[in-house]
Amino acid sequence: MFIPIFFILSFLFSSTNAADFCVGDLNGPVGPAGYSCKKTVTVNDFVYSGLAATGNTSNLIKAAVTPAFSAQFPGVNGLGISIARLDLAVGKTQSLAFVSFSSPDPGLQILDFALFANDLPTDIIEETTFLDAAQIKKLKGVLGGTG
Ligand SMILES: *[C@@H]1O[C@H](CO)[C@@H](O)[C@H](O)[C@H]1NC(C)=O
Repeated sequence: MFIPIFFILSFLFSSTNAADFCVGDLNGPVGPAGYSCKKTVTVNDFVYSGLAATGNTSNLIKAAVTPAFSAQFPGVNGLGISIARLDLAVGKTQSLAFVSFSSPDPGLQILDFALFANDLPTDIIEETTFLDAAQIKKLKGVLGGTG
């Protein structure tokens, strides 16, 4: 009985040591190094259940990304890691993937929107994707892009 209790207490003590962690203060300033550190840390700062729920794939690309980045899961602030849940509706079944990142706040771009949901000139997109202008204009029409 003594050993499990000791383990739990040591975990709690180590998780409240400000030198070991920098749990993000979401109400504080955010800079290139992430959020400033919360002054008081609890075990709840290291628990995130947002990845348990299936993402809503009822959208144009039939996909949903559920991030556990520092903005959603402040416990990863400053640790150089994060994770996201990726739900894909493919045909008759759903697919699920977990994606890990080497940053607590990685940039995330969905290529379809990055290329076709903006006013990037079609000739530039032609050069970078090898699609022809008609295909690009069709995709821009579907995704709301112009140009
Ligand atoms: C999923 O997203 C669609 C499109 O935005 C929306 O109409 C629907 O209510 C959402 N479903 C759930 C369960 O949130």
